[in-house]
Amino acid sequence: MGIVEEVGEGVSLLKTGDRVVMPFNVADGRCRNCEEGKTAFCTGVNPGFAGGAYGYVAMGPYRGGQAQYIRVPYADFNALLLPPGKEHETDFIMLADIFPTGWHGVEISGFQAGESIAVFGAGPVGLMAAYSAVLRGACRVYVVDRVPERLGAAEKMGCTPVDFTRGDPVDQIIALNGGMVDRSVDAVGYQAVNSGGTTEQPNIVLENMIRGLSIGTGQCNVKSYNRYLRDLIIAGRAKPSFVVSHEINIDDAEMAYDKFARRIDGYTKVLIHPNGDF
Ligand SMILES: NC(=O)c1ccc[n+]([C@@H]2O[C@H](COP(=O)([O-])OP(=O)(O)OC[C@H]3O[C@@H](n4cnc5c(N)ncnc54)[C@H](O)[C@@H]3O)[C@@H](O)[C@H]2O)c1
Repeated sequence: MGIVEEVGEGVSLLKTGDRVVMPFNVADGRCRNCEEGKTAFCTGVNPGFAGGAYGYVAMGPYRGGQAQYIRVPYADFNALLLPPGKEHETDFIMLADIFPTGWHGVEISGFQAGESIAVFGAGPVGLMAAYSAVLRGACRVYVVDRVPERLGAAEKMGCTPVDFTRGDPVDQIIALNGGMVDRSVDAVGYQAVNSGGTTEQPNIVLENMIRGLSIGTGQCNVKSYNRYLRDLIIAGRAKPSFVVSHEINIDDAEMAYDKFARRIDGYTKVLIHPNGDF
């Protein structure tokens, strides 16, 4: 997220000084997948592959976004315009990735208002999935993790925390819910750990979630959601910045990555201010 400094000659909708936020994906807006709203699978920005992203392995020649400046290809399409000023700054930054991604997880689970849902993982993505389920009218939301600060954040927004080191999380949810939940979201990924929290066991969360099998996966098509989520923020109906645990200058990024990787000192979602102006 940032302020437009300069525009190339192919840009007609943006101007210097505009405040914008970009999806983590890079998309051209003109291939078949983009036209169908599947911007995470754009075929035009990363030849031989479906999908491009900033600073990500195998996702094309795009430099990472944690920098003072970023060059945005197909900028008219990729940049989402924000209202001028500084209002909602820490909420809008969530539109780049985790808010749409959490929303997407709930969407592809097939969720409908009134249903119950279990979200595995209370990292930034899991908390945003749980928050999306709350916004979308879930009757009950269970959030599984083992990190106390993260489970605490889930509880604060009205979800039921489930500590998977205190017993099988599925058994705990079934007991609390009086039966199985309607939907579930895996917001952990392949770094899932076993119930002792000691060894990685990549399949454990998927096995926890399985019953009648219908699975959706894949990177989030941020462009399909970010406009609407921006408007929920502007209208005061969503405030995803509650997930922000720390704000730092870019010089402290190495330290923050280390703490985030070890999930210590409450490092859940860290905002990097590359120009040190906060
Ligand atoms: N699809 C997308 O577009 C997209 C976008 C961003 C991130 N991601 C992915 O989403 C996943 C989550 O991202 P994050 O930033 O929130 O990560 P994170 O590592 O901060 O959070 C994962 C959480 O899962 C917990 N966990 C580990 N094993 C578990 C288990 N067995 N049961 C329940 N919880 C368990 C960990 O304690 C941790 O708090 C990652 O795999 C990331 O790559 C996907």
